[in-house]
Amino acid sequence: MVELRLQKVSDAERFFEILNNPNFIYFDVQPATIEDEVAWLEQNAQRMKDNTQWNYTILYDEAIVGAIGVQINYHRNYIGEIGYFIDEKYWNLGIATQAVKLIEEICRNELKLTRIEIAMLLENSASERVAFKNNYLKEGIQRKLIKGKDGQMKDCYLYAKVF
Ligand SMILES: CC(C)(COP(=O)(O)OP(=O)(O)OC[C@H]1O[C@@H](n2cnc3c(N)ncnc32)[C@H](O)[C@@H]1OP(=O)(O)O)[C@@H](O)C(=O)NCCC(=O)NCCS
Repeated sequence: MVELRLQKVSDAERFFEILNNPNFIYFDVQPATIEDEVAWLEQNAQRMKDNTQWNYTILYDEAIVGAIGVQINYHRNYIGEIGYFIDEKYWNLGIATQAVKLIEEICRNELKLTRIEIAMLLENSASERVAFKNNYLKEGIQRKLIKGKDGQMKDCYLYAKVF
């Protein structure tokens, strides 16, 4: 069973382990140390207070397998962008797809968002499938949206769902 709960600072070690995977080639978040991850998690309380980000840990049969979060648009607080990652050992089991369904309920019912976006590098077919399977609509390409691991700015697909 896939469940979400708010992230805890004590998740740092597990997130560090999951994120330090050379096969995360299309993902631009990689903490250098566990202390960096702790510092990042410690800021979650302020992010929620400011309503800028809501970050959740993904549990699969009660084990920590990844994370999903929504970043609220600074100018338009009814728009959010979702991001997620899953431990490679658990890929292709439908976990990210289910996690998006769960965060979508929070976005709609608690955060009162009316538009949710998901952006992924053009090559990130697995992430694209997650958006597609959740009935997000491909709206186009956002040019030079994300800095790739090679330092170059990369284009992304923009998927979105509106309520
Ligand atoms: C993207 C990611 C979160 C998907 O997580 P997941 O739990 O494996 O996703 P799901 O199992 O729900 O769905 C994955 C789908 O992609 C498909 N897929 C996987 N790799 C693929 C590939 N190389 N090409 C095409 N489809 C692929 C799977 O077959 C599955 O689709 P299906 O159910 O139709 O068979 C995971 O691969 C990941 O953490 N990647 C690294 C971080 C990242 O890129 N995050 C997203 C940033 S936008």
